[in-house]
Amino acid sequence: MITEVKKILDNANKGNYAVGAFNTVNLEFTMAILEAAKEKNSPVIIQVTEKTMDYAGGRAIFGLIKTLVECYYPQIPVGIHLDHGKDFEVVQRALEIGFTSIMYDGSRKKYADNLMTTKKIAQFCHERGVNVQGELGNVPYLREIGSEEVNWDKYMTDPDQAEEFVRETGVDALAVAVGNAHDFAKERPEPDYERLGKINERLNMPLIMHGASDWEEEKVTEAVRRGINCFNVDTASRVAFVTSLGKTIDGNKSVSFDVRDHLGQAKSAITEMVKKKMDMFGSSGKIEKSE
Ligand code: G3H
Ligand code: 13P
Ligand code: ZN
Repeated sequence: MITEVKKILDNANKGNYAVGAFNTVNLEFTMAILEAAKEKNSPVIIQVTEKTMDYAGGRAIFGLIKTLVECYYPQIPVGIHLDHGKDFEVVQRALEIGFTSIMYDGSRKKYADNLMTTKKIAQFCHERGVNVQGELGNVPYLREIGSEEVNWDKYMTDPDQAEEFVRETGVDALAVAVGNAHDFAKERPEPDYERLGKINERLNMPLIMHGASDWEEEKVTEAVRRGINCFNVDTASRVAFVTSLGKTIDGNKSVSFDVRDHLGQAKSAITEMVKKKMDMFGSSGKIEKSE
């Protein structure tokens, strides 16, 4: 059943586990994520970016997620979320479509500007009953950090600033930067767990980890212990899907021109990956009896 993202995150926060927020781009990704959630009896968040709304059509992809949940997965609590909304226009576009949870990502701006814009957007969204995730510090992308030595200090979330940021903006959840990076990028050898713990002590609210698609169980478990309630996962799904397609299509040696054979196997590859993540995050088996 379509469920408020805030409720899913608050339950994870109370229960000391994390959920996955998995990016989708199409039918196969969405089915794969929902199938994993069903098999693992896990709440889940499905999210799309502006780029995906442009690719698939915002109303089409939103309607696709909603219809699949309502018709085939009514027992699974599923939150639908806009990931990395970069400006007011895209947030407004998402709200018009029906999103009730958005991220405004002002992390590339100077602190004061990020705070002011996040505050305005949060107020606009809250007046309309929409949940808001902000980002403080900066979770870089592979293209920004390359594979050279990175000065991680300049990306990190400052715990004092985080307290002020949340108080002033009123966001419902915060994306943090503690050495994590988008894509399968070379990350800080070890996340700054101490910093994460401090942010958690100050905020006591759902904290979101972007860019941890490639984290092994040990890092995930420690991050959850230190207060993470949600891991965003995109690259791992892309890699699972494309790798499977590469194998089944294999140049011109393909034996089948029924695209459903290839897409179906690629979909299953995502499902298997998502199931493992749900176990690692601790969301498996967390659908409450009353839900
Ligand atoms: O951080 C978000 C995504 O991994 C990037 O997604 O290519 O749809 O903008 P995008
Ligand atoms: P990955 O690139 O590690 O999958 O991170 C995805 C993400 O943070 C989406 O918001
Ligand atoms: Zn992200």
